[in-house]
Amino acid sequence: EPIATPQVEKCGAAKLPDGAVPTTCCPPASAKAAKIFTPPGLDTPLRVRPAAHLVDQAYIDKFSEALRKMKALPASDPRSFRQQAMIHCAYCDGAYEHAGLPNIELQVHESWLFFPFHRCYLYFFERILGSLINDPTFAMPYWNWDSAAGMKMPPMYTNPRWPMFNVFRNPDHMPPKMVDLDFGDKDEHNSSHDNFSESAMVEHNLAIMYRQMRTNSSTPEMFFGKAYKAGDKPNPGGGSIESTPHNTVHDWVGDPLQPNHEDMGNLYSAGRDPLFYAHHSNIDRMWNIWKTLGRRNVDICDPDWLNASFHLYDENAELVQITVADCLDSERLMRYKYQDVPIEWLDKKP
Ligand code: C2O
Repeated sequence: EPIATPQVEKCGAAKLPDGAVPTTCCPPASAKAAKIFTPPGLDTPLRVRPAAHLVDQAYIDKFSEALRKMKALPASDPRSFRQQAMIHCAYCDGAYEHAGLPNIELQVHESWLFFPFHRCYLYFFERILGSLINDPTFAMPYWNWDSAAGMKMPPMYTNPRWPMFNVFRNPDHMPPKMVDLDFGDKDEHNSSHDNFSESAMVEHNLAIMYRQMRTNSSTPEMFFGKAYKAGDKPNPGGGSIESTPHNTVHDWVGDPLQPNHEDMGNLYSAGRDPLFYAHHSNIDRMWNIWKTLGRRNVDICDPDWLNASFHLYDENAELVQITVADCLDSERLMRYKYQDVPIEWLDKKP
């Protein structure tokens, strides 16, 4: 059986880590029952998500305006930035249980729910931003950390004048520092990658991408993560990309001086950093790219995956039920795609 849709009204206390400021992660209740997701038709204009390091000032202004408006919404509004951030906490820190199975906590990480959950979450985040600036074609950026020119924190996120800025990040990892895609791992001499030159870091990161996207993702299970069904214990096992570079980039961005490396370094707080959404946008892009890399790189066909579903609020603050099957094809079913950039790691066999 698929895990039944977590019900907003059954959301309870999250299990926050020690040192976290107590907070509730549950979304506001909905006056109406959730409506079933209907894909935007093929005549809906495509949103094209740009690489964050390639955007122009006009895009930055537009994105800033949308994000400012989202941050200005009252905290009780499910579209507000605060509530958007809390979605992550609710789905990741034990605020939900499997329907009818009390004490079985729901967790969207470390399993095959990882890719589809975050895709749906970002999808509505993007639609809300677009609606706040009356631009139905607005597309969120992606942090193109798998390309040499995108390996620094994108500049628009590090300028305190813009709402993409966040103070709770590792101060040693500000530009021009290059991201380390397997941050925390040691090299063969048991030292960190801190002393790598820029070009050595680029080569290292591209080799990591090749390894994670090709060598370590040769089956759907290796890519998506292990099956996770009704009644299963959380964290059966995540896919290759979820561990590296997903987790590693979270850790690289988070502030080691905060008790739980907030914001990006902990699940409950990660959504508070606008960079979270750009990071996940690139993770989501990897799903699309992976499917082009081989004949056997296909979506899982187990109905317990396809029929798993989530409740999320849309741009009209209405609760929507969306299934994994609804989100398999970002372009045809959800009407967004990614700006094409050269994929530099495709032939970087380590
Ligand atoms: Cu839900 Cu990047 O984690």
